[in-house]
Amino acid sequence: MHSDLNPYSPGSGRRPFELVGRAKEIEAFDLLIAKTKQRRPDRGIALHGLRGVGKTVLLNEFRQQAERAGLMIVSIEGRDAEGGSEAVRAKLARGLLQAGRRANRRGITSNLREALGSIVSFSAKLGVTGIDIGVNLAAGRADSGSIEVDLEEMVEDLCIALADQRLALVFIIDEMQDLDDALLSALLSTQHLAGQREWPFYIVGAGLPNLPSVLAEARSYAERLFTYRHIDALPRDAAISALAAPAAKHGARYETQARDLLLEVSGGYPYFIQEYGYAAWETAPEKLITVQDAKIAVTIGRSQLDQGFFPSRWIRASRGEKDFLRLMAIDGDGGSGTAELAERSGRKQSSMTMTRASLISKGVIYAPSLGRVAFTVPGMDDYIQRQHHL
Ligand SMILES: Nc1ncnc2c1ncn2[C@@H]1O[C@H](COP(=O)(O)OP(=O)(O)OP(=O)(O)O)[C@@H](O)[C@H]1O
Ligand SMILES: [Mg+2]
Repeated sequence: MHSDLNPYSPGSGRRPFELVGRAKEIEAFDLLIAKTKQRRPDRGIALHGLRGVGKTVLLNEFRQQAERAGLMIVSIEGRDAEGGSEAVRAKLARGLLQAGRRANRRGITSNLREALGSIVSFSAKLGVTGIDIGVNLAAGRADSGSIEVDLEEMVEDLCIALADQRLALVFIIDEMQDLDDALLSALLSTQHLAGQREWPFYIVGAGLPNLPSVLAEARSYAERLFTYRHIDALPRDAAISALAAPAAKHGARYETQARDLLLEVSGGYPYFIQEYGYAAWETAPEKLITVQDAKIAVTIGRSQLDQGFFPSRWIRASRGEKDFLRLMAIDGDGGSGTAELAERSGRKQSSMTMTRASLISKGVIYAPSLGRVAFTVPGMDDYIQRQHHL
């Protein structure tokens, strides 16, 4: 079928043709907006799950919902590949300035206009200047130099003014487990204060399965700050429609066996459904996708994953870390006990602590419970097993 019509979207954060199986999350965010309009602010939202389940796509969806409702939004990622924690703060400051600039239009209330001054002082303290948002710096507000105090003051000033308008300030944070401790603690204590003072301020974050424990370690009360939602592989009905609906839109359909084969190899994981669906579309000569087409699509889709999705994580590991991952792969995708891994390698458990920590910080593995580790990437065990040459 025509490549230029291919309706599938494999790739990080790429919006799928239809966002299936996530109605509950979308409703939860709608509720947050509805409560904001009633001046009854609620908790933030924290999405957590494995790689490729659709967390970033959901955050993008939330952003659009928030934009439609006219909320003030700033998006950041937990880590900056080159610039470290300074760069993340600078991105936050720039995002705030941009949001402030957009808010400073005709009809803005004088309270809100005045509050925007705190964004200018907050940002200046972080070294971000030169973005004119049409108001002066609010001297003595959000400029102490302590990130926690300044964040709280800036959020307080903005939110009091936004609440009058039945609006909110929303921080959308992807890869939230990667935030540095100081910024994370400041964000959590600000969210905490916002809850107590009824400021309409929400952190909406997404991260790996360890996100809830990272948050709890930073602040013991983190558990109560968020509505936590585990984002997982799609249940069967949703997976069927994720695969079939894009094709149907163009008048194409799958033979039942072809559909079932692709669903089985994808395990219901959104990224894999997109990759196999994409390959099936490219492979099928006719608008009926047959089992033969599907079998070829499995081979092609898998080799695509083996060239993109999997190695993008694998290449981040050092040699010693790769050995550790190989030992884990033997246990399949259910995770491994660190004691057993040590025994298998013939090394002391303590000698593997650094490797384990480094792989966790690279986001390749996480600790589902004490003494255990598991891959953050679904299917990583099989990938490692099939790559004998690695
Ligand atoms: N609900 C869905 N239905 C169908 N496809 C989806 C859905 N959600 C996401 N996808 C597809 O899955 C892929 C991965 O999405 P996304 O990048 O949002 O995942 P992620 O959880 O953020 O992954 P990572 O942890 O690697 O950042 C994309 O190709 C996207 O189009
Ligand atoms: Mg993502």
